[in-house]
Amino acid sequence: MMAGRRNGALLFHFFLSIFPMLHLFFFFYNRLSQMLAGLLLMLACGQTLAQSAPRLELCVACHGAKGVSQSPTFPSLAGQPKIFLENQLVLIREGLRDIPQMKGTLDGLKDAELTKLALYFASLPPPPPAAGPVDAASYQRGKAVAEGTRCGICHLPNYSGREQVPRLAGQQERFLLDVMKEFRDHPGPGRDTIMAASLYGLKDAQLKDLAHFFAHFK
Ligand code: HEC
Ligand code: HEC
Repeated sequence: MMAGRRNGALLFHFFLSIFPMLHLFFFFYNRLSQMLAGLLLMLACGQTLAQSAPRLELCVACHGAKGVSQSPTFPSLAGQPKIFLENQLVLIREGLRDIPQMKGTLDGLKDAELTKLALYFASLPPPPPAAGPVDAASYQRGKAVAEGTRCGICHLPNYSGREQVPRLAGQQERFLLDVMKEFRDHPGPGRDTIMAASLYGLKDAQLKDLAHFFAHFK
């Protein structure tokens, strides 16, 4: 009789303890299947984004497979905010941002097609920090200038960019230097005036340090 009651109590405790475990099991099972479904969806979307973006084979010849440039003067496009890419593509197509290498590349593309290109490159993983050796002194000077002039207010403190503001982290160093000189010395009609003003008065050596810092940013 006593044994029977003890067994009953044990069974009761067993169920009490297994319920939270079952609960946890189903919780993780659910999360796992959600994650798997998300992953499959991402893969499928990546495929269709690539299929629907026009003239991709041209872009990747210069901007690198998967939008990660292997060439110092060609910018990486991977992981740039969609709106930034869209804006630049319109400016380039209209000739307001003059890029001789891209002459004709976007001719005849509709806004919706530019958006497809922007969506595709925005969906790709951003470039890793530059592979070359880091000049620690230059990196530190660049960091100090960037913090002193508050580039991070718009480009975000990790320089990943957002909306119409580009990512700078991991970008090609030489391209960054060239484009900053362009902003400082000849800001074109389509370019952001506050951005140009942020670089006003900075010396070439400081722009060089900034480019080194952003390219290697960790
Ligand atoms: C022959 C080489 C070449 C081809 C082809 C090319 N680009 Fe470019 N692109 C460049 C260069 C060089 C720049 C940077 C110019 C500068 O500002 O100095 C650039 C800049 C850009 C920018 C601005 C990026 C930034 O960070 O400022 C975007 C966006 C872009 N290209 C998209 C594209 C797309 C999309 C295609 C394909 C439809 C394409 N490009 C084809 C060479 C090329
Ligand atoms: C008020 C917001 C703002 C501030 C502050 C700012 N930027 Fe920008 N920056 C922008 C925007 C917006 C663009 C996109 C350019 C355009 O559309 O004309 C840009 C573009 C750039 C580019 C070109 C990148 C590319 O891929 O084309 C570089 C490099 C850059 N900024 C560096 C800096 C540095 C360095 C500082 C600090 C000294 C800085 N920015 C401060 C808003 C800002």
